[in-house]
Amino acid sequence: MILVQGTLLHRGKANDVYTTGNENLLIIDHSDRISAGNGAKTDVIFGKGKSNNAVSELVFNLLEKVGVKTHFVERYSDTAMVVKRAEMILLEVICRNKTWGSFCKRYECDKGITVFPAGVEFCLKDDALGDPFMPEWAITTLGYATAEEVKLIEQFVRKANYVMLELFDKLGLELIDFKLEFGRLKDRSIIVCDEISLDTCRLIDNKTGQNLDKDRFRNNLGGVKEAYEEVLNRLK
Ligand code: TMP
Repeated sequence: MILVQGTLLHRGKANDVYTTGNENLLIIDHSDRISAGNGAKTDVIFGKGKSNNAVSELVFNLLEKVGVKTHFVERYSDTAMVVKRAEMILLEVICRNKTWGSFCKRYECDKGITVFPAGVEFCLKDDALGDPFMPEWAITTLGYATAEEVKLIEQFVRKANYVMLELFDKLGLELIDFKLEFGRLKDRSIIVCDEISLDTCRLIDNKTGQNLDKDRFRNNLGGVKEAYEEVLNRLK
């Protein structure tokens, strides 16, 4: 497909979204920008965009194979991909296989406790409100998604978790948790949007027990660039 990158539609914290000559398609360019704490801490990590683009492409392709529709169309460059334009559903859906991160802060519990079956949490995507946890009745009352959509999204997340656990295990990584975002196409069908990368997954190296993900930046662990590079190398 011959597509030309158009004008900048949206500059996010980490990614830039561009129009194309086709109104149904967009280009997402994964930048090297990194941020944490709702933009409180920022930096630039050389090679991060390339790593995130490659991991996202791999996972989106895998999801499509198991019947979970995504916005991925094709690779555009080392850092960018062509995606379907969708109406974004303003929810962040988190899937947890082990207690970690904000879950442990919220409940003051140990990290690493197995969650089985995996926990699926819905949060409102609103930085100003701090992405608050949202029960299903609040989502439907406020019209962010219908009860049927919430049910379908949870099914998609559980299916994604199943195949992503296996995929990352093959790369020597344990998938602790991850975040997905969803959108609606014109026919109202639900697809996975945004990115699925080291920015949105918590991954622990099977051998060393060390994080190979954005926690290295969030928690000042050092070796951020090396972590993104390492996972990119394992894909090869
Ligand atoms: P948390 O433990 O901080 O809630 O994060 C759970 C997972 O969701 C982790 O893999 C990181 C991912 N995540 C995002 O990608 N974006 C976000 O804004 C948040 C809060 C989490």
